[in-house]
Amino acid sequence: MNSIDLSVKIGSLELNNPVMLASGTVGYGNEISEFTNLSRIGGIVTKSVSLKPRKGNPPNRIFETSSGMLNAIGLANVGLEEFIKTKIPFLKEIGSTLICNIAASTIEEYVECTRTLDSENTVKAFEINVSCPNVKDGGLIFGNDVNNVRRITEKVRAVTDKPIIIKLSPNTASIKDFAQAAKDEGADAVSAINTLVGTAFDIYTKKPRIKNITGGLSGPAIKPVALAKVLEISRNVDIPIIGIGGIANWKDAVEFMICGATAIQIGTINFINPNASIEIIEGIIQYCQETSITKISDLVGTYSI
Ligand SMILES: Cc1cc2nc3c(=O)[nH]c(=O)nc-3n(C[C@H](O)[C@H](O)[C@H](O)COP(=O)(O)O)c2cc1C
Repeated sequence: MNSIDLSVKIGSLELNNPVMLASGTVGYGNEISEFTNLSRIGGIVTKSVSLKPRKGNPPNRIFETSSGMLNAIGLANVGLEEFIKTKIPFLKEIGSTLICNIAASTIEEYVECTRTLDSENTVKAFEINVSCPNVKDGGLIFGNDVNNVRRITEKVRAVTDKPIIIKLSPNTASIKDFAQAAKDEGADAVSAINTLVGTAFDIYTKKPRIKNITGGLSGPAIKPVALAKVLEISRNVDIPIIGIGGIANWKDAVEFMICGATAIQIGTINFINPNASIEIIEGIIQYCQETSITKISDLVGTYSI
């Protein structure tokens, strides 16, 4: 159907195409495997896994606002041991590139998770979540301090030769400094962005809509913010960027690539259309045909300002 080269390289990580599934929005891939062809997707990023299982925050954990989705899941996950035992075998069968997202409360925990998963052949790269806004004992506390991001990257780099992607928070004044720190310490790429801190209240009970009070805002509402962050990194730091935030269709994906993203991740839109990623791949192919692009990587960072 196409002679277009859709492959992209993110450091030493090679993907068949630039469309990935974002962490936390498809579980371990199994949650949407009935509704889409996972083997066609460029890369699957799994729900953040931590050393020990986490129950996450108490409900309500999700609320749909008039302009985006708020979530405060709090990194609920099965823990490393169970992940290796029961989730990796399913992901192995799919044939897409598997990227493991790791969350932790301490630097040692990031290192331990990475070291343990390093020996799993199915895991092709790590995405290090230093930016979750919904946990008190990690997440943003790490993600908001450039020295922590520097130390985490350095320590994780020391225990794996596989590609490392640092997932950055938008809740900082200068995201480019964090991207630079990740690059300096040997990260292969950064992904941007995680969710934006937000809240919503019921005007009659006067209580927050989610138990955690604040949550992470995602979905199309955050796309312009995400795009600005990707552009900021792209203009200042020479490191591959994976663009995330509110991507709903192929035009959004192309826009991110023009602004400097080598690949993109599809998140909240999966809840509305679990086949969105495949439709986005097809839309990108059509765009390339229309605009005579033979190699999708040629599109990356082609903005003119
Ligand atoms: C319900 C939900 C759970 C999420 N869980 C995680 C997670 O475990 N780890 C992580 O790094 N990001 C997590 N995210 C953030 C997404 O991967 C993504 O960065 C963010 O939602 C922005 O993209 P989007 O607007 O396309 O959803 C989660 C997002 C949502 C909506």
